[in-house]
Amino acid sequence: MTVAVIGANGSIGRLLLDQLDDTDYEAVGVVRSADQFDAIRERGAGPRLGDLEGEFASALDGADAVVFTAGAGGATGWDKTLMVDLWGARRTVDVCEEKGIDRYVMISATGAADPDTGWEPLRPYLVAKRAADDYLQDSDLDETVLRPTTLTDEPGTGTVESAFDPSDGDDIPRADVAAAVVACLDDDATIGHRIELYAGDTPVVEAVQPPP
Ligand SMILES: NC(=O)c1ccc[n+]([C@@H]2O[C@H](COP(=O)([O-])OP(=O)(O)OC[C@H]3O[C@@H](n4cnc5c(N)ncnc54)[C@H](OP(=O)(O)O)[C@@H]3O)[C@@H](O)[C@H]2O)c1
Repeated sequence: MTVAVIGANGSIGRLLLDQLDDTDYEAVGVVRSADQFDAIRERGAGPRLGDLEGEFASALDGADAVVFTAGAGGATGWDKTLMVDLWGARRTVDVCEEKGIDRYVMISATGAADPDTGWEPLRPYLVAKRAADDYLQDSDLDETVLRPTTLTDEPGTGTVESAFDPSDGDDIPRADVAAAVVACLDDDATIGHRIELYAGDTPVVEAVQPPP
């Protein structure tokens, strides 16, 4: 199964490529600059060019699944949040439908479930994430939305706390979010679910299991 990672040279993206390299998945790393190709190859993935504000559709050729872990980041303006986190994400859903790529795992964020109650300076970002999540949910794709809380670069623990309804918890290492992506790709029971992720003590594979 070929997994295209959008945002492959980002902080979660790189960790995800490392983890996919230890599995039977073939990884494609979608980046917006050829300068990043070597970094993608070093992580065992095939690099492809794709810019969410421009052309990226051909980068998804041959993929069976897409992981969206791109983001405009906090150092840009809300214009980029709209164009990348919201509109870029929506366009990837359209391309998956056009190309018959069924499986999609979205990295969203806690707070997207209810942006009105999120930290006020972040609300436009949470609205963008929520709108992209809703568009994905309304699509025909086999989708899973992961909503991690604030990310850290601490080493992964292999354990997390999850919640299938809006919740609260401790900051989470990016490596554990990457592990949750792999666990979701491995398990179709996660399709159709929005899973909040926090630091915690439950093995990742167990934590992404929907409640009975
Ligand atoms: N930071 C947090 O605490 C937090 C919390 C919850 C959820 N999240 C979400 O988690 C995800 C991953 O976070 P992260 O820390 O790994 O982010 P990151 O390190 O900033 O990586 C984001 C990646 O997106 C890429 N990107 C930006 N604009 C693009 C475009 N137009 N076309 C293609 N790629 C583009 C960037 O490419 P370049 O390398 O070219 O810049 C970068 O590699 C994001 O969706 C973020 O919103 C973050």
